[in-house]
Amino acid sequence: MSLAWPSEAPSAGSVLLRPLSANDAHLVAELAADSYIPTIGSVPAQVDGDGAAAWISRQLSRAKRGTGYSFAVADRHTDRAVGNAGLSLRALDSGRAVGGYAISPQCRGRGYATDALVALTAFAWTVPGLHRIELYIEPWNVASIRTAERAGYLREGLLRSHQEINGVRRDMVLYAALPPRAPADQGALRRNPPASG
Ligand SMILES: CC(C)(COP(=O)(O)OP(=O)(O)OC[C@H]1O[C@@H](n2cnc3c(N)ncnc32)[C@H](O)[C@@H]1OP(=O)(O)O)[C@@H](O)C(=O)NCCC(=O)NCCS
Repeated sequence: MSLAWPSEAPSAGSVLLRPLSANDAHLVAELAADSYIPTIGSVPAQVDGDGAAAWISRQLSRAKRGTGYSFAVADRHTDRAVGNAGLSLRALDSGRAVGGYAISPQCRGRGYATDALVALTAFAWTVPGLHRIELYIEPWNVASIRTAERAGYLREGLLRSHQEINGVRRDMVLYAALPPRAPADQGALRRNPPASG
């Protein structure tokens, strides 16, 4: 079943999350040029104009196929795409999503990833049936860990030998966020209402 595209672009701080377009081919080339990004996602390490167009088309089809959302992270003032943020909803039946983000190497260190994850997370809570968003981060990836923490995610533990990246088994740190007021909290509140007055 296809997923509805948000009627208003999710935004936070200096970014908004919008659909990728043919004008964003430069972004695909910038992400592909990074030594790490092609090893962890769908961006190919070698990309020409046709490859960039095909990647953008696949991102747009994710919502139509019901597997998730893949947004351009755009600078709110210039609309230039500075990165990509995705929400995988393959486990939505179980109430779970996995988030991901990457920023062009030349645009890092300006808070774009943090703003993008805040916007992505707020948007995610509008998806019916979602109770938990997970992030899988390699322990050395301090910039990503800080991004997760800045956006309110909590560290849940180290997953040893969790997955293969670039031919090597890797440990991953699991971060997760629950809705601002999770159903479990609501149940607890109903059982123990805050004292009034
Ligand atoms: C991780 C990534 C998305 C961060 O993007 P960014 O736009 O530079 O991040 P921000 O500017 O929002 O910074 C987020 C935090 O990380 C810190 N940070 C950024 N780069 C850092 C670095 N190289 N080393 C240590 N900390 C760093 C920032 O200081 C900030 O923390 P603070 O608010 O406590 O100061 C970017 O480095 C990237 O695209 N990396 C490759 C792809 C990747 O690793 N994606 C995540 C996979 S789990």
